[in-house]
Amino acid sequence: MSKLSVEGFPTVEVAADKRLVLAIEQDAGVDILHACGGNARCTTCRVEFVSGEPQQMTQAEKTRLAERGLTGVRLSCQIFCDHDMTVRAISRLEGSGRPDPGRTPEPTIQPPPEWTTK
Ligand code: FES
Repeated sequence: MSKLSVEGFPTVEVAADKRLVLAIEQDAGVDILHACGGNARCTTCRVEFVSGEPQQMTQAEKTRLAERGLTGVRLSCQIFCDHDMTVRAISRLEGSGRPDPGRTPEPTIQPPPEWTTK
């Protein structure tokens, strides 16, 4: 189990093989967006790391962040909760004007991860 802290919400314990986007939504109870259903396409699941940012990154995340010119954020659908981490949920349903957060992501990282580093 790992400790997950989402700033402004109580710290929770989550399984190490849980996708961060699902842990934020289901364990921490935060209304994070995941418009593409957790497939590294939309970037609405983006978070800022306060601590515990993984050095490992899926190729899909790296490509999408570069395409969008995004820095200082990570895609929570591409990260496992395999160690303690603290994040800021900067992309939430509340205030987004969207009708829902998006289709619930699958339990496993999609597309099947090809691991690289930041
Ligand atoms: S990129 Fe769409 S949910 Fe992560």
